[in-house]
Amino acid sequence: MKISKIMKITGIGNYFPKKILTNNDLEKMIDTSDEWITTRTGIKQRRIAAEDESTSAMAAKAARKAIKGAGLKPSDIELIMVATITPDMNFPSTACLVQAEIKAFNAASLDIGAACSGYVYGLSIARAYIASGVYKNILLIGAEKLTSITDWTDRNTCVLFGDGAGACVLQPGYTNSGIQSILLGSDGRKGGLLYIPAGGSKMPSNQQTVNEHLHFIKMKGSELFKVAVTKMTEAAVGALEMCGMTPDDIDMLVPHQANIRIIRAVGKKLKLSDERVYTNIEHYGNMSSASIATALNEAVIKGRIRKGNIAVLTAFGGGLTWGACVIKW
Ligand code: UT7
Repeated sequence: MKISKIMKITGIGNYFPKKILTNNDLEKMIDTSDEWITTRTGIKQRRIAAEDESTSAMAAKAARKAIKGAGLKPSDIELIMVATITPDMNFPSTACLVQAEIKAFNAASLDIGAACSGYVYGLSIARAYIASGVYKNILLIGAEKLTSITDWTDRNTCVLFGDGAGACVLQPGYTNSGIQSILLGSDGRKGGLLYIPAGGSKMPSNQQTVNEHLHFIKMKGSELFKVAVTKMTEAAVGALEMCGMTPDDIDMLVPHQANIRIIRAVGKKLKLSDERVYTNIEHYGNMSSASIATALNEAVIKGRIRKGNIAVLTAFGGGLTWGACVIKW
């Protein structure tokens, strides 16, 4: 059997829930303004999943499109990975729930816990399986229902997040296009900058944790901001160096969509014009692991990334985690 060291994205699919929450809607809920949210974050609106619409349901919808796009059937998929911080439940894994939903019964299934960097971590896991010849058809999904862990009374965080899912199918490639390099990193010492205190084994749920809103995202925004800019830039440069490239080679940077000011700062450090940096934060807010997934797919669908282009993904999130990936499309 011929084993390929190159992994290609052969199918893509996005899903966004229908309901839109605008900044003007938020003005009626908390003490904020469209002007503050737009200038401080770049977000104009975000999608909100229906109450009965779970992360796995959104993931399955994106997955079906990606599998169809790759010309496969769900039964061809050998591994399903879902990057998420909003699993339907602690277990079974969201990947197992997606498997049942899309009827991909020949697959192994696992979730990835790397927060906003989860999709890039997932690409790296998939590449290891493909390069070692273990699997040939892998489904990777970044899916989040962040509005289910958002404290709607906390204006520091509730204006930032949205729901959605992006998926891809990954297969061995036999030309030089595909994933060229991936660089990952983490710093567990800074985990307290972005986390959910309760609901795990350290602080199980009880009436007090609910009363104190400890099941929602807690974030030290301005401290994270600086680390995000540094790590996303360093990761992109490092991943480019791994395959003998520099930021000059980038046709399209697809950064994690946490804040337009972070994105612009990274673009500036890499000396990229705005046209070479893809954003969808204005429409969807921060969707954690689904941000890079959907932004990459959208850039391809809109023709902003074309055959032969060099796309660089760069991610940063809770953990802390970061990662970057160079793709020749
Ligand atoms: O996805 C994972 C990674 N996430 C990140 O990396 C997020 C990084 N951080 C950020 O994007 C930004 O720090 C935020 C958007 C979260 C906050 O922006 P900031 O420019 O750092 O604002 P700040 O937290 O320093 O707050 C500035 C002021 C404060 O008022 P005072 O204390 O100066 O009077 C806040 O109370 O803005 C106030 N503020 C708001 N005002 C209106 C905070 N949130 C709001 C709001 N509306 N929604």
